[in-house]
Amino acid sequence: MQISLEQQVALVTGASSGIGAGAAKALAAAGAAVVINYNSQAEPAEALARQINDSGGRAIAIGADVSKEEDVERLFAQTLDAFGFLDILVANSGMQKDAKAVDMSLADWNQVIGVNLTGQFLCARAALRIFTQQGIREGVSKAAGKIIHMSSVHQRIPWAGHVNYAASKGGVDMLMQTLAQEVSQQKIRINGIAPGAIRTAINRAETEGDAAQKLLELIPYGRIGDVDDIASAVVFLASDASDYIVGTTLFIDGGMSLYPEFRGNG
Ligand code: BGC
Repeated sequence: MQISLEQQVALVTGASSGIGAGAAKALAAAGAAVVINYNSQAEPAEALARQINDSGGRAIAIGADVSKEEDVERLFAQTLDAFGFLDILVANSGMQKDAKAVDMSLADWNQVIGVNLTGQFLCARAALRIFTQQGIREGVSKAAGKIIHMSSVHQRIPWAGHVNYAASKGGVDMLMQTLAQEVSQQKIRINGIAPGAIRTAINRAETEGDAAQKLLELIPYGRIGDVDDIASAVVFLASDASDYIVGTTLFIDGGMSLYPEFRGNG
């Protein structure tokens, strides 16, 4: 299966590091022009854009806080100014602010919901407005636009000590499904990806040394995931190779969501 995203424009939020950076690189390698959104980390985002441009691709970095409406509006306007179109949104920005519920501040609850859930809504809304106006670009893609919501296994698996994060990802699942139900007849394709433990900055403490051994007990496939495990699925879901996949979440987790603790138990 040969996947090409030539002539397409992709915007990846939270792309200065981790899964977002990996997705941006993979989309660029498949031929898309890529907008690398960052919030605070301008330098790595600019470096990634340079790296893509130097290797013959097209990319720019744009700073914006996805939890702020005016930032999101500017981000999408600048995307159109730079590349003229938008075909793919990867709503990826996400963060953790972990604490037991009894100790969790309202500020930490609001910030995580603001970035992980409200941010995905604001970006999806902006993308939908563009896709609706643009329609299907003949010879470019069968769909009038594609959105990939980055969720987590914790849209399904409760996670003690992370109630803001788990609630945000449960929300992302319903956001994704409801939007897909709402706009699929306009040939806009919306799906989600639910990564398990992927080695990035967000879980460095859990994926190194002894902690990694403990984490592996939760992963039947026997390894911690890499950014590329997710990036290749982003490219697939963004391409016409997945044209009949609508409103579903792809779990990419080495089997974490199979509840392996129940092997020989229960
Ligand atoms: C979290 C990671 C965690 C993984 C598995 C992800 O959504 O961001 O910190 O390792 O889920 O629990």
